[in-house]
Amino acid sequence: MMSKARITAIGSYVPDNVVTNFDLEKMVDTNDEWIIRRTGIKERRFASENEFTSDLSIKAIENLMERYDKGIHDVDMIVVCTLSPEYQTPSTASYIQGRLGLKQAGAIDINAACAGFTYGLHLANGLITAGLHKKILVIGAETLSKITDFTDRTTCILFGDGAGAMLVEYDQNGSFLSSHVVSEGEKAHNLYGTYLSDKMFGHELEHKRQLVQNGREVYKWAVTSVPSGMKAVVDKAEFSLQDVDWFIPHSANLRMIESICEKSSYPIEKTLTSLEYHGNTSAASIPLAVDLGIKEGKIKEGDYLLLYGFGGGLSRSGQLIKWG
Ligand code: UT7
Repeated sequence: MMSKARITAIGSYVPDNVVTNFDLEKMVDTNDEWIIRRTGIKERRFASENEFTSDLSIKAIENLMERYDKGIHDVDMIVVCTLSPEYQTPSTASYIQGRLGLKQAGAIDINAACAGFTYGLHLANGLITAGLHKKILVIGAETLSKITDFTDRTTCILFGDGAGAMLVEYDQNGSFLSSHVVSEGEKAHNLYGTYLSDKMFGHELEHKRQLVQNGREVYKWAVTSVPSGMKAVVDKAEFSLQDVDWFIPHSANLRMIESICEKSSYPIEKTLTSLEYHGNTSAASIPLAVDLGIKEGKIKEGDYLLLYGFGGGLSRSGQLIKWG
């Protein structure tokens, strides 16, 4: 089915508080050199004590409205992609809908972790192309610092907070050339945060609210499965990777992204990330990277972007998009 959904605006926001690798050296046994060599991350932002995922999301929406001549009064669906909502219920999307007074909008949260934003775009494209909605706000927002275990040096050096928002509208000339979603739930115990149960597929889980990750296993999974996922997305659109102007993967770890590019014979120079100054912001990392690419004058109207999210679930998802 031809896409009838077009991305018409983008906005983003990161909290003011900068946390450098040197700051983390004071908290756990780590060092700036190790973090940069193994991950590419130099610093990240942490939300303040009273700043939550809905606050970051609203700042990203305000940023979108300031930069584009777009009203949101007629938005008819809000999709928030997050694994760090401030409430288990209501959904962050409902809370934002209430705070912004968007009375005609439905609201739903998606928890597909670091694949969240691309899952959100998949859903928005489907709902609009099917004729069910006309104007959807898709937001990727995280306050991971609130669910990070700062005694675990293998995870706390990775995560950061931030938010990105895109407006997706009905248009005969849709942006989406192809889209796919994958879930490999049988591997879920490699990246989780527990709430009520401490067992999963026979695995005993550490019972705590913070994120627990088997970094090596997730790393191996991503570098083997993402290249085939990228190919599946471009194949579906009858494109090739050579036609892609910018590859925008989830900003998990630069070393991983280099390996994914090498396996895909895709030039790393044509890859955009947000990890150097924002760390791994899970569902926010892709919209943050797209927005940085726009601000740096790299992404131009008509460029073909390959977005690919991957992470907890384990889940992954990607889209080939014509920008502008
Ligand atoms: O966003 C959702 C998806 N998540 C991901 O994609 C994350 C995937 N995984 C990763 O990014 C990487 O696995 C990590 C960054 C988490 C870890 O990097 P790694 O290169 O896989 O390190 P490792 O776990 O193999 O550990 C290598 C060494 C170990 O020491 P020994 O056993 O060789 O003596 C670790 O104890 O590095 C040590 N180490 C550290 N040293 C200094 C682990 N964390 C740190 C640290 N500082 N923060």
